[in-house]
Amino acid sequence: MSDTHARTIRFGSSSGQPVSRRDGIAKVTGAATFAADNAPPGLLHAVILPATIARGRVTALDVAAASAHPGVAQVMTPQNRPPLQGDPSEKPTMFSFRIEVLQDDTVRYAGQPIALVLGETLEAATEGARLLNPRYAMDPPRTALGDAPPEAIAPTGFGTPADTTHGDIEAGHAAARQAIDVIYETPAQYHNAMETHAVVAAWDGDCLTLDMPSQALNLSCAGYAYFFGIPAENVTVRSPYLGGGFGSKAIPTGPQVLAILAARHTGRPVKLMLTRQQMFGPVGHRGATRQRLRLGIDEAGALTVIDHEGLAETSTFDDFLEGAANAAHGLYAAPAIRSSHKAVRLDIGTPGPMRAPGEASGSAVLECAMDELAFAAGIDPLDFRLRNYAETEPGTGRPFSSKALRECYAKGAERFGWAGRPQQPRQMRDSNGLLTGWGMGTALFPCPMFGAEARATLRPDGTALVETSAADMGQGSWTSLAQIAADSLGLPLDKVEFHAGHSALPDGGVAGGSGHTATAGSALHGAGLDVIRQLGEIAAADPASPLHGAGNATLVARDGWLHVDGDNSRRDSFADILARNGGNPLSGKGNGFRSPEDAARHAMMSHGAVFAEVKVDPDLGQVRVSRLVGAFAAGRIINPKLAESQLMGGMIWGISFALHEAARHDRKTGRILNADFAGYHVPVNADVSGLDVLMIHEDDPHVNVLGVKGVGEIGIVGTVGAVANAIWHATGQRVRHFPIRIEDLL
Ligand code: MOS
Repeated sequence: MSDTHARTIRFGSSSGQPVSRRDGIAKVTGAATFAADNAPPGLLHAVILPATIARGRVTALDVAAASAHPGVAQVMTPQNRPPLQGDPSEKPTMFSFRIEVLQDDTVRYAGQPIALVLGETLEAATEGARLLNPRYAMDPPRTALGDAPPEAIAPTGFGTPADTTHGDIEAGHAAARQAIDVIYETPAQYHNAMETHAVVAAWDGDCLTLDMPSQALNLSCAGYAYFFGIPAENVTVRSPYLGGGFGSKAIPTGPQVLAILAARHTGRPVKLMLTRQQMFGPVGHRGATRQRLRLGIDEAGALTVIDHEGLAETSTFDDFLEGAANAAHGLYAAPAIRSSHKAVRLDIGTPGPMRAPGEASGSAVLECAMDELAFAAGIDPLDFRLRNYAETEPGTGRPFSSKALRECYAKGAERFGWAGRPQQPRQMRDSNGLLTGWGMGTALFPCPMFGAEARATLRPDGTALVETSAADMGQGSWTSLAQIAADSLGLPLDKVEFHAGHSALPDGGVAGGSGHTATAGSALHGAGLDVIRQLGEIAAADPASPLHGAGNATLVARDGWLHVDGDNSRRDSFADILARNGGNPLSGKGNGFRSPEDAARHAMMSHGAVFAEVKVDPDLGQVRVSRLVGAFAAGRIINPKLAESQLMGGMIWGISFALHEAARHDRKTGRILNADFAGYHVPVNADVSGLDVLMIHEDDPHVNVLGVKGVGEIGIVGTVGAVANAIWHATGQRVRHFPIRIEDLL
């Protein structure tokens, strides 16, 4: 492909526009079909029975009573569960859990499926499950970080290294003129997308069709294929719309496998949709952590050491760890940096990736510890961060592919009005007498690319079809990816039909790691360029074309025309070129992969700075976040409207982390006490005000062909610490756990 094309098409007219999401009307009017909206003929409804203890055995189930209930078609228990071809304790893909699928009568966590009931109606299946009336032999559950000894568990998958050390840690500690040594705790949090996990499974011989929300369609095909002993190409996943995902819908889960098994066994399509309560257990969560941070500084306030130890919960049968201590790397310059992780095996469902896995909990604590040390040293928190600004990647010295964090600090502080912040806490009150505090935090998130493929087809009428199995969790991929595709083809957005959300399309990769726009977008971009390159060759070779002999390298595509660069009068329309060439459509392919060499050359990170103002009632301890300013540098922004929404969503989740969310276990049974939206708090509109998102321009020639980094997760990262630090600044009380609740401030 020629440079000319790449340069010209990159700055096409769609990218950079605040286009409203193309599927928005369908979603808000109910026209969009979500997985559980499908009801093929002959459908059976499946309901799982979740364990109500966390550890022990199921000793009895009233299968006869459940089976006798009118409309109950079948009851599946460990006694009669048909065999699976794959081993459920294996992880067939990089996004896999060891799943619980009625292998035996052991209960390993509360919420684990202990039976599946199939009914002609949802009501019949639900009542059948109720009639099962399980009895248990219960062992004392271990659900808190102190309930089991820490183990060095090598985490698998998701790229979380257990321990990393750069420099001489002991020398770093010894060189410190001032130091802090603090322990913070973060709770278990459960991602609760509006749409709960669901599947409609239908078999046709050895071919399986799944209507199922998925953040990773083709990986899901491979995962389910493994469990059922069929080739991945025999599995079709249709996932046009998701009502949120946040990491939990990237992974095949036990309940879904059971529903698919039931469909195979009965020869009828089966639908399963988890209830809200059933989301707390078998589909992943953000594991609780206890983190110790030791920081030292020299006389000038420069860090001599960052020593971050993370302890995180995992299940008794799997090994996902929240890589919280990894936050120590990447953000601040220090001659000695260590992150280490240990895990505690508890009687809980396996944790998994949840929006900004690792960074969210790790940065929350790091940013609070930085704030504590800044105050101890008598340095303004922002000044302290600037003194320790990492010009290159800490530890490795690799250059950043781009890093406009300094500008994020400056613009964010200016917008917020940070200057003049009193150093001491408890200095500011508003006109209502509420204690007012200001705090800040830095945000960082890596820019992974998991790989993707795409196809573009230019039709004889001058419109195009672009295809990739990309997922839209609600973040707007259907729109931003179409914008990229339109630009790559030199077409207006309304001339581009975008197909995604179906596994038979070219593999769109994973909507995860904040890398979907970059990855699937690069693939679409490449596919469009491939079409234009071929079109240019056809025109240049065609004596009837005004572009005859022009040479491909000098052509640019815009608004459905190929032009000679710099000479708008010498042009040919896409439709004419194709018509003279036999009237056939023209297809191209692209991929979005990052070579290991490219990945190794630069540290690739999005950055941000978040400034928070809180008001605290001095008598009641009630906290309100009154203002939140986040300035983020995340490479090129394809759609500022959608990116702003993503960043706002992340910041709101940061408020949630700081003030609201926590799953609490009953100490006797191990059940989660607040497994619903009455007890598991998330912010509502009244909890959120004064959100201000600034997007800082950043050109990144290295991160990928588009210069796109990603905005899906970084919003949560800096916000948690900013809010906590503002609470300290308002009250003088340093709360070293999350969420920070009224009772902590009385
Ligand atoms: Mo995200 S936790 O990579 O969906």
